Amino acid sequence: MQKGACLYEGKAKRIYKTETPGVLWVEYKDDATAFNGEKKDVLTGKGRLNNEISSLIFTQLKQEGIDSHFIERLSSNEQLIKEVEIVPIEVVVRNVAAGSLVKRLGIERATAFNPPIVEFYYKDDALGDPIITDEHVRVMNLASKEEVDQLKDMALQVNEHLKQMFKKVGIQLVDFKLEFGRDQTGAILLADEISPDTCRLWDEETGESFDKDLFRFQLGNLQDGYETILTRLGGLK
Ligand code: C5P
Repeated sequence: MQKGACLYEGKAKRIYKTETPGVLWVEYKDDATAFNGEKKDVLTGKGRLNNEISSLIFTQLKQEGIDSHFIERLSSNEQLIKEVEIVPIEVVVRNVAAGSLVKRLGIERATAFNPPIVEFYYKDDALGDPIITDEHVRVMNLASKEEVDQLKDMALQVNEHLKQMFKKVGIQLVDFKLEFGRDQTGAILLADEISPDTCRLWDEETGESFDKDLFRFQLGNLQDGYETILTRLGGLK
């Protein structure tokens, strides 16, 4: 497989063509951004850690019957994926109150939600990814009614698997963001990445954060936190 022209460069990844139609090459970058790009840094090793963790999680989800765009890990910071058309909706699942929900609603941090909360955000950097309802999705024609139901169902299924996966290694899955795409047949497929950049992960015993909040709020060394996640999930040191 050959890496072709760069199709897209985002905040955390670059996406390249390959010679195979429908197959893309992803390179995870060491760039860290937060607060819609207002806070920036380069953190050596972050790309490797997110690629390793995301590859491991997508592989495990596949074994448990949840398919995604992930094809294979190519190197420490690269993977192959199926080409999809990204649905411009960020789906957030919350098991425990943290982050923007605490700020927006004043609910006490660490309050547990059972059943979990599912939220939609409109994926638009210029607008700052605003929270939206099913009605906004309909008016803006972002997804069909059937797709909206599917996004919610799939996000809750992923949540059940991830919660177990992390619980086994002493980590509480607080919340996370998923993205989905449409494949060539129009079917909805889990996409993007699942990593400490896109999840809040707390130590079950101490409450310590092992996720991007380390960088957002200068709580500690990001690479050490991500390395803890990779090691506990059974990945390479
Ligand atoms: O900031 P907020 O509390 O809404 O984030 C909820 C979850 O979604 C967090 O785990 C955060 O890392 C993730 N998220 C993300 N990308 C965004 C917004 C949130 O990965 N653009």
